[in-house]
Amino acid sequence: MSSPLLLLLLSTVITVTAAAATSAYPSVTTDCTVSPADNELVPVRREVYGGGRIFDISHRYTVDMPLFWSPNGLGHMIDRYFDAGFDVDTLDLEVLNGPALLVDVPRDSNITAQVMESLKIPKGVRRVLFRTLNTDRRLMYKSEYDTSYVGFTTDGARWLVKNTDIKLVGLDFLSVASDDHLLSAHLEFFESREIILVEGLKLEDVPVGMYNVHCLPLRLVGAEGSPIRCILIK
Ligand SMILES: *[C@@H]1O[C@H](CO)[C@@H](O)[C@H](O)[C@H]1NC(C)=O
Repeated sequence: MSSPLLLLLLSTVITVTAAAATSAYPSVTTDCTVSPADNELVPVRREVYGGGRIFDISHRYTVDMPLFWSPNGLGHMIDRYFDAGFDVDTLDLEVLNGPALLVDVPRDSNITAQVMESLKIPKGVRRVLFRTLNTDRRLMYKSEYDTSYVGFTTDGARWLVKNTDIKLVGLDFLSVASDDHLLSAHLEFFESREIILVEGLKLEDVPVGMYNVHCLPLRLVGAEGSPIRCILIK
């Protein structure tokens, strides 16, 4: 959970370089006499692939990205699970890959039980990505860790566990639990060992709706968190 996520704002560059970069690949040049000029050697950085079929919802890692909570990191959330060997290598890839709902959360509140109820997420939905005020405030693009981010309150987390089938919870800042409920809300999620939390997602400019999510953490033995690459496919 301490994975630092981050980012750069390159949308204008992407537009300008898209055409040039395609022709910069020797392998796609059919005319062998043409050698690309040096000024065409510009890599393309994309958020969307396949004409809108694939959205990359991972932030780029940069030195400017915000770091979770404290420079020293957190202790183990639930010692008995950690001691028993539940590390990121034991996470269920079936939970991390499959149909997922992207929803917008009301911007005037943290994710409380009342907010969860108002979202009316149908039973059977197992993966939900919550887009919040954090995206509007571009908190993942600020190097300073802003503790006023939106996240789950303890009763919001408990409501989700008790009343929904959600097993993958995605959020657009570095902690799914609001700062005021940091430990208690995490404990609600972790107690059953069935729910996987994916934090620091890049959800701007992605239409609300159903996708297939694909998230692959690294097989870090003995680690409680991992950098993860997540994409949405229509
Ligand atoms: C969410 O909770 C944090 C404290 O954890 C608070 O600073 C922030 O203002 C709250 N956000 C909203 C939109 O209520």
